[in-house]
Formats: sequence, C-alpha cells, structure tokens
Amino acid sequence: MVDILIVGATGFCGRHAARYILQHPERSKYTVGLAARSRSKLASIGLPLDDSVQVFKVDIFDARAIESAVKQAKVVLNCVGPFWHYGTPVVRCVFPDLNALSARAYAGLTILCPSACARHGIHYVDITGETPWILDIIKEFDYLATKTRAVIVPSCGVDSIPADASVHLASKALGRVPLGASLTSAGLRGGAPGGTIASFFAVFEDVPSERIKDSARDWALSPVRGARSPAERLVYRLGRRAHVGGIAVFGRVNRAIVQRTAGLLELHRRSARAGDAGGRGAAATGSGDLACYGPAFTYTEFTPTGNVVSAFLLSLAIGLTFVTLKFIAPFRWVVKHLVTQPGSGPADHTLESGRLEYVNVTMSDEPSPRCAKTIIKARGDPGTLLTAVMVGESALALLFGELTPLAAGGGVLTPMTAFGDSIIRRLKANERFEITSGIVDSPDEEVDESRKRR
Ligand SMILES: NC(=O)c1ccc[n+]([C@@H]2O[C@H](COP(=O)([O-])OP(=O)(O)OC[C@H]3O[C@@H](n4cnc5c(N)ncnc54)[C@H](OP(=O)(O)O)[C@@H]3O)[C@@H](O)[C@H]2O)c1
Repeated sequence: MVDILIVGATGFCGRHAARYILQHPERSKYTVGLAARSRSKLASIGLPLDDSVQVFKVDIFDARAIESAVKQAKVVLNCVGPFWHYGTPVVRCVFPDLNALSARAYAGLTILCPSACARHGIHYVDITGETPWILDIIKEFDYLATKTRAVIVPSCGVDSIPADASVHLASKALGRVPLGASLTSAGLRGGAPGGTIASFFAVFEDVPSERIKDSARDWALSPVRGARSPAERLVYRLGRRAHVGGIAVFGRVNRAIVQRTAGLLELHRRSARAGDAGGRGAAATGSGDLACYGPAFTYTEFTPTGNVVSAFLLSLAIGLTFVTLKFIAPFRWVVKHLVTQPGSGPADHTLESGRLEYVNVTMSDEPSPRCAKTIIKARGDPGTLLTAVMVGESALALLFGELTPLAAGGGVLTPMTAFGDSIIRRLKANERFEITSGIVDSPDEEVDESRKRR
C-alpha cells in the first residue's frame, strides 16, 4: 500500500509535483508511489527516489494495470494529460466494485466496467483545466462517488485554486452573508508547459463542438443555477472603482469551478435543511467554514492591462487566435509543430521568475453593500511550480483528512468544497505564497486583516 500515488510522474508538471511531494517537510508521515509507463524514463529525470518509493508501471489505457496500482493507494494525484485523452480511466478506478452498489447507481453508468473498478473508495486530485472533461466526470461519477464517499477533486492547480480560494476568503471576510458581484484581476507571468498547450489542441481538435458548448454554458458544472454572469468587457465597475482588463485565458474555466462551489454549497444547505438522510454530505454535521454565496452571486475574471486600448488588443488577439486555431486546420498544424511539445516546458530561470497575482474584489448582497478584497501573490511559474505546490498540498489535505463537512459525503467536488480553510492554511505555510483578505472601504485600499467583521 502507498499513501499517495502520483500518476504521470514523468510529465513536465508531474515530475514537479512528484519532487514537491518527495521533498515535503511532512515527508516522514506518508509513503509515495510513482506510476509511469516507462520505468527507465522515471529513473532518468532526476527525482529524489529512494528505496521507500514504490514504482508502478502503468499505461493509462491498460485498465488492469491502473486498477492494480490505484487499489494500492489512499490518494491518487493525476498529472496525465491532456485529460480529455487520458484522464477517465484513472477516475473510473477510484470507485469500489460496482456490484456492491444499488441498482440505482448503475443507471446511466453502464459505461463503467465493474470488473475494472477498485474495491474501496479512494480519494483523487488532478490538475485538469478542461471543462468538457470535468463535466463528463461529474455526469458519470458524481452520484456514484457520493455513495462510496470517494472525494474526487479536479482542477487543483493554478486552474482553479486561486480563483476558488479568493471567493471563499471573501465570503469569510464578509461574515458569510450572501454575496453579489465578485471580480478578479488575474495576473499571471510564466511559461506554458507542452502538456498545457497540447490540452488546448485536444480541445480544438478532439472534443466535439456540442460538448464544448455544453461545458461553456453559464453554471455548466453546477448542480444549481445562479445569477446570470455579466458579459466580458474591457472596463468593469465595482464599488467606486473602474477596473480595466482583457480576456483572461482561464477565466471561463475558473468561473465554472467557482460556480460549482456555489452550487454545491447551495445543494448542501438545502439537503441539510430538508434533513435529507440520503443527500450529499448527509454524513456531515454543520457547515464548518463554508457558507452559501447566495442567489445574486456572479464571478468574473480579467487580465489586468494598463489601459483600454491594450485591453482591447489583448482580447482581440486571444479571440482571433482561438478562432483561427479552432477553424483553420492548416494554421493549427503549423502552430502545433512550432510550440513547446508535450514532455517539455519553460527553462529553469523562467520557472523561478514566474509570478501569480490574483486580486479579487467581492461585494456583499446587502442593502448597504460592503466590499472584501483578497490578494493571492505567489513566486514561481504558475502552471508548473505553483501548480505542483497547490496539487501537492491538496493531496496531503486529502490524505490527512483535512476536509470540509461537505466532503464527508464524497462526490466530484471543487477545491473549496473539499478542503475549505485547510488548503489556504497549507498554502500560507508555503514560502512561495502570500495570502491576505479583509474588508475594505474601497477596492484601492490596502487589506487590513485585523479589521473587525460586522
Ligand atoms: N490546470 C492547471 O493548472 C494545469 C497546470 C499545468 C498543467 N496542466 C495540465 O496537466 C497535464 C499535463 O501537463 P504536462 O505539461 O505535465 O504534460 P506532459 O509533460 O506531456 O506529461 C504528460 C504525462 O502523461 C503521461 N502519459 C501520456 N500518455 C500516457 C499513457 N498512455 N500511459 C501513461 N502515462 C501517459 C506522460 O508519460 P511519458 O512521460 O511516458 O510520455 C507524462 O507523464 C495537461 O493536461 C495540462 O493541461 C494543468
């Protein structure tokens, strides 16, 4: 048995996640297994391996090999992407034998191969940012996971922990009152690993248009619909201040996860109120540090720019690139061969000089709205070094049972509905991260965490 099994440990992000887990200050408290399709590649990438690290030879398309490796783990950390191509077999295997489940659990789940499923519920985290894939695993496995109490948490990298954490912290700072508009200036500086670029191409080339449309809908991943999201613009007005910015490349992905958090919290509240013994999180008592975001809540993200002209040019460039890559196959073919290829990523100096700065402003939904400001700053390449920290700490939170009451019910969750404050505590303890949140009179004001909540 191993405590944490890292699948895809030879990938560019997987090896950073593996190194993080292998060199963590709490390393003496857990055992690690690494799964890869090539043992020699695993041995050649400079990971600090010792005799305690178990190695599993696993091809993601070999159901028996995955099943056998996954069954020996308490937590699976999956870095094999593009997830649209490779992810589902790993998630399938984290569920117990379907034969043990009620006939109801079978409904709509014939796609699962019962003999390939693990016998015990096993927790799972990954670093996907592919919403069509997340929608698929929600449809296929969410209900089942609530029966087996497996906690499945996609998107534990730069998509979408900072976004999800910002709103969670705003909700706490405002004293858990219903929220109104929430706006994030998402500043990211760094390189793009080849696997991330390959994931974009996977979405352009392989995901059917209908599935893209389905997963891009407002509240697509949420079990409950909320207020309509405002359209992306160049100037956003919140409180007394105007914010200028262009399209955030991962804005829609993050919005979908934050909306799922809002929807799951609402569902949890309704089941608790109805005393629903079979409902999601029924095993939980109380709501812990979680509070509903309310019916007026909306979330928007933009990339900060100096002025409206550069915001317009940025949005135009991103829009044109996406449209040409999606619809002009020869252009896509050329670009695909020019960009960083899977398996490689930014150079060491780019990894260290990368930065993340998320500034979130959230208004309360009250007769006299108040404003919470949350700043998440981190040093290091967001898609690689910081993603390794975030997914690594998520896996540890799962392993050590640092979960919210809602997570006691299992299911396909989000970082905040699964971990809540515990992941924020863990990130704050990491020297790369600096996180502050509090009430402000105006969005320009510095955050003073000691300021009293009402
Ligand atoms: N959401 C976020 O914040 C975030 C951040 C970064 C990355 N990502 C995502 O993470 C994923 C990985 O990115 P990356 O840059 O690390 O990609 P990568 O370097 O190409 O790594 C892919 C990994 O998948 C493994 N793999 C591929 N096919 C396999 C198979 N049939 N069986 C077993 N293993 C297989 C590869 O093994 P080999 O080494 O043997 O080829 C490698 O370990 C991408 O989907 C990317 O979009 C997300």
